[in-house]
Amino acid sequence: MDRRRFLRTLISSTAGLALGATALRSAPAFANDPAQFAHGLQAHPWLLGWRGVSSETLGPATVQLQGRLPAGLAGTLYRNGPAWSERGTLRYDHWFDGDGMVHGWHFNGDGSLTHRARMVATPKFTREQKAGRFLYPAAGTSVPNAQAVRNNDDANVANTSVMALNGRVFALCESGSAFEVHPDSLETIGPVTWRPDLAALPFSAHPLVDRDGSVWNFGSISLMGGAGLLVWHIGKDGQLRSADVIATPGRGYLHAFTMTDTHLVFVLAPFDFKESGGSFFERMQFAPQRAANIAVVAKDAPDKAQWFEAPFAAIYHFGDAHRSKDGIVVRAVRRDNMDEARSPMKEAMAGDGAHATNGHSTLVELHLDLRRGQARWQDTGISTVEFPLFDPRTPDSRAARLYAPTVDGASNTPYFNAVAAFDVERGRRQVWRYGSDIMAEEHVFVPRPGSRNPDDGWLVGTLLDPVNKRSGLAVLDARHVQDGPLAQAWLPYAVPLGFHGTFAAQA
Ligand SMILES: [Fe+2]
Repeated sequence: MDRRRFLRTLISSTAGLALGATALRSAPAFANDPAQFAHGLQAHPWLLGWRGVSSETLGPATVQLQGRLPAGLAGTLYRNGPAWSERGTLRYDHWFDGDGMVHGWHFNGDGSLTHRARMVATPKFTREQKAGRFLYPAAGTSVPNAQAVRNNDDANVANTSVMALNGRVFALCESGSAFEVHPDSLETIGPVTWRPDLAALPFSAHPLVDRDGSVWNFGSISLMGGAGLLVWHIGKDGQLRSADVIATPGRGYLHAFTMTDTHLVFVLAPFDFKESGGSFFERMQFAPQRAANIAVVAKDAPDKAQWFEAPFAAIYHFGDAHRSKDGIVVRAVRRDNMDEARSPMKEAMAGDGAHATNGHSTLVELHLDLRRGQARWQDTGISTVEFPLFDPRTPDSRAARLYAPTVDGASNTPYFNAVAAFDVERGRRQVWRYGSDIMAEEHVFVPRPGSRNPDDGWLVGTLLDPVNKRSGLAVLDARHVQDGPLAQAWLPYAVPLGFHGTFAAQA
């Protein structure tokens, strides 16, 4: 069977099983209660991180940066996160359910910073705004009387990350199309169809940029009820280079992946799917008794994989991957509690500040021996981290320095309050603690323009100060994280905590 035909066959056999469709048979809703959340927020101000918005736009607000912004740092930090989580008497249960709001933090070049944000006008959000109630199935909440969906984009919330490519900006989510938004106004342009026969197929929220500027990404057919992995390759010019489907041994959950210069690495966590009983995440049961399936895909042959098995691991986020003597070493953050992994910050979403926990996470290494076909995990001894990033200029012949939010010292919130740089191989750590009440999000690495030295650049990260009800941003020198921010700014308002972003340097 030729590749194109195989792709069509595999997709058409699963096309009727869009993510939302299975959720249509959901049991009566046990969704959260907005009043209960509001009550919890009074007792636990940090729950502000999970309070939704009630306006389609925020800002623009221009604020002065305190400190000295480094010369050369010019552009926009785009971020995304679930922001619209309540309608009427229903509040979503799962953090991943809220409709996406894209943020643009623009460095104006005069020491000031302008923030603006706008809800992504997906068909779901637009129709629900008009109706004044949730109409469509959600990934982690049983929505009563949810309408039928024809495809993934009917229920697409575009709420997880942002990709900037060739002057264009896209809001991403793991279960449907990328939604293009205007780089300045953030107004929604619409879903992207990379090729007509690939409309509405999943284009995940964790694309990776290759050294030639092209982008690799995947779409999980498991989310649609099938078993397969769609591998996307988009050129630097924004045109599709290839899309291939790799059959997978069974259902496996994956949220992100990693790569070396020559290979892509996908780690699938096996799960069982209950026949009935609510939304996707309510029915999905991780199967830790079964091995994880690991696909290593050569970039010059993206339609096939070499498969490995290793003990089960629930992972959302990966760091770098680098070449080793025998093959490849991958870095990832393992979630150690299955329930928490399936629904992170579940108690916070419900307004239960007394029991909310960020769970336990461990930075682990996956050692892949390509010749012997063996895979094994190794703990690094580093725990309580998430959203690891690194300088993509680091050569893949060695381990990258990882940058990640973490917890340092006492904290009045169950979330991250610090950012750290980890040199895993040398066992060194630099940390900057923001404080007991500050919540720290992903810190994006921005290379210093004109420099080719790995780690020569800055970390740009967002913060939430729940006591003063304000969101902010900090810029740190990536080589001197322990010295704290070079510049920092606070907005006159608070925005909900989000997930991921990207820095688009000024052209
Ligand atoms: Fe993610």
